[in-house]
Amino acid sequence: MSVPFLFAYKHPGMNKSQTALITGASLGIGRELAKLFARDGYNLVLVARDRSRLNTFGDELQKQFGITVKSIPLDLIDASAPQSLFDQLSRESIAVDVLVNNAGYGKRGMFAEISTDDNLGQIHLNIAALTHLTKLFVAPMLERRSGKILNVASTAGFQPGPLMAVYYATKAYVISFSEALASELKDSGVTVTCLCPGVTDTEFQKRAGTGESLLFRRMLPADAKTVARDGYRAMMKGRPLVISGFKNWLLAESLRVSPRRVVTAVSRRLIER
Ligand SMILES: NC(=O)c1ccc[n+]([C@@H]2O[C@H](COP(=O)([O-])OP(=O)(O)OC[C@H]3O[C@@H](n4cnc5c(N)ncnc54)[C@H](OP(=O)(O)O)[C@@H]3O)[C@@H](O)[C@H]2O)c1
Repeated sequence: MSVPFLFAYKHPGMNKSQTALITGASLGIGRELAKLFARDGYNLVLVARDRSRLNTFGDELQKQFGITVKSIPLDLIDASAPQSLFDQLSRESIAVDVLVNNAGYGKRGMFAEISTDDNLGQIHLNIAALTHLTKLFVAPMLERRSGKILNVASTAGFQPGPLMAVYYATKAYVISFSEALASELKDSGVTVTCLCPGVTDTEFQKRAGTGESLLFRRMLPADAKTVARDGYRAMMKGRPLVISGFKNWLLAESLRVSPRRVVTAVSRRLIER
C-alpha cells in the first residue's frame, strides 16, 4: 500500500467522508458532541460566535483526529445567519450529512424585567435559528434520502418555568417540533432526534444567572460529556427523543400525572435562589 493512499485515508477531504454541522460547538455540550463526531471520523463544520475559541478548538480536533474542520464564527440570533451559513457551504460544495442544532441560551428573571433583546433573543436563537437551519438543510438530505438531525432541547421543555418563562417555552417548542418532524420524515431516510438534558455543568448556568438556583444546587449537575454521549447514541439509532439521565427521565415522566398548577409552583421554587 503506497504512502499517499494511507495519507489520503487518514486525512479524508471534506467530501470523501461524512460531515456534521454543529452549532454552539465551542463550549459545553456542543464541544463534547464535536469530539464524539471527530472520534468517529466525521469532518466538521463548527459554529459559534467567539472566533478565536472556535479556531483553537477546530485546530485541536484536526490535529488529534486527522479530520477536516471548518470553523465559521456566526451570531445565530441574526435572522440572516442561517441562510448565509447555508449559502457559504453550498458555494464550497460541502454537503451536511448531520445537522446538530445545539446553540441555545437562557436568561433568569421576571419576564417583564428582562430586556426585550433577551426575551426575543432566546426565541431567535433557540427557536428561529433552529427551525430555519432545519428547513434549509433537510431539503438536500431528503434529496439524498439520507441524513440525521439532532436538536438539543431540555427537560425544561416539559413544564412551564416561572422566572425563565421564555427559555422553558422555547424548549417546549423544540421538543414538540422535533417529535412532529421525526414523524413526518419517517421512512424518508432522514431521522430527527431531540436530546433533553437536565441541569448540566457548563457555561450555560453562569450566562443564564441560574448558578445560585435551588435547581442547580440541589440537582447534581450532569457533566457535558455524559449528556453528549447520550444524545449521540440516540441520534445514531434514529431515536426521536432521549432524556439524559435516569433521574431526569423519572422527573419528566412524573410531570405527566401531576396537576399543572403544582408543577408550575415547584418549577418556580427550583429557579428561585
Ligand atoms: N447546561 C444546562 O444545564 C442545559 C440543560 C438543558 C439544556 N441545555 C441546552 O443545551 C444546549 C447547549 O448548552 P450548553 O450548556 O452547552 O451551553 P454553553 O456552555 O453556554 O455553550 C453554548 C454554546 O453556544 C454558543 N452560542 C451561544 N449563543 C450563540 C449565538 N447567538 N450564536 C451562535 N452560537 C452561540 C456558545 O459559543 P459563543 O458564546 O462563542 O457563541 C457555545 O459554544 C443549549 O441549547 C441549552 O439550552 C443546557
